[in-house]
Amino acid sequence: MPINLNGRSLLTLRDFTPDEISYLINLSLNLKVKKRSGIRGSTLEGKNIVLIFEKPSTRTRCAFEVAVFDEGGNVTFLTNSQMGVKESIEDTAKILGRYYDGIEFRGYQQETVESLASHAGVPVWNGLTDMYHPTQILADLMTMHEHLKKPFRNMKLCFIGDARNNMGNSLMIGAAKMGMTFTAIAPPSLFPSEDIVNYSRQVAAETGAVIEVTDDIGLGVKGSDAVYTDVWASLGEEDKLAERITLLQPYQVNTALMNKTGNSETFFMHCLPSFHDTNTQIGTTVKESHDLDSMEVTDGVFRSRQSVVYDQAENRMHTIKAMMVATCGNL
Ligand code: CP
Ligand code: NVA
Repeated sequence: MPINLNGRSLLTLRDFTPDEISYLINLSLNLKVKKRSGIRGSTLEGKNIVLIFEKPSTRTRCAFEVAVFDEGGNVTFLTNSQMGVKESIEDTAKILGRYYDGIEFRGYQQETVESLASHAGVPVWNGLTDMYHPTQILADLMTMHEHLKKPFRNMKLCFIGDARNNMGNSLMIGAAKMGMTFTAIAPPSLFPSEDIVNYSRQVAAETGAVIEVTDDIGLGVKGSDAVYTDVWASLGEEDKLAERITLLQPYQVNTALMNKTGNSETFFMHCLPSFHDTNTQIGTTVKESHDLDSMEVTDGVFRSRQSVVYDQAENRMHTIKAMMVATCGNL
């Protein structure tokens, strides 16, 4: 059966089959070649896209905007709208669905993006919620495909840190869908929920994936093709940073941890933004309060030859473009 994603939303990777994810990665690879060749496209010509952001963003917003411009469409960046304040999500969705061909939402509640999708009548894409960050995982899978040059079913990925955040949840589901070996490494209080683990293991039973959760760093990272981490306190959790620093300092990705993989070629991955130095307002504050030069990853690992973080960031644009083209474009 040929894959046809026209009209589909992407709210979580639960919504997509392994074949559909592979299709989006292949389309992204083609669009990357097209962009690098300087070819402007028309697959979004005549399409109007609205980007709703309740939380800050650099990559996601810019990736959506550039992707739309590259393929001939138009965007509206919407902040401080009436949505949820003076107007229900349902009414907002029904109205935006009459103006626009696609809606991106970044914010707090997963229910908000689900509700937008139920009522808009056009594709809705999750640009990050507290629960999931599915467009990031498309970019991460594409990056692993490019660098590791072997089938997903032969890849081992570990995620270390706050394993119950949007990245931990989404990577586990993405790995399960693609048949990978995936280990979440965290202190037990930050283990992913039973719901996410059980769902991922059900998927794994069909795809051949292996899904593990452990607080044993040495065991978890051993043999990994890639070590992935994320900030210790996600957007909206800033008040938890002090307690997370105490909890997660032993889980920092540093040279000693990378050496525990037993593989000198293991890649380092991060969705960004990252506290790998003190050149940020928060990094400076943490330096003063805790005398730390970095948090989830040291500057040395972040800048090392194994680090693929900027490739991941670039691939956000190609994968987001592929998702829009596939779901609302002129294919
Ligand atoms: N990785 C990511 O989503 O980055 P932004 O928060 O800058 O969009
Ligand atoms: N877990 C992070 C991801 C940022 C891309 C956050 O939600 O802030």
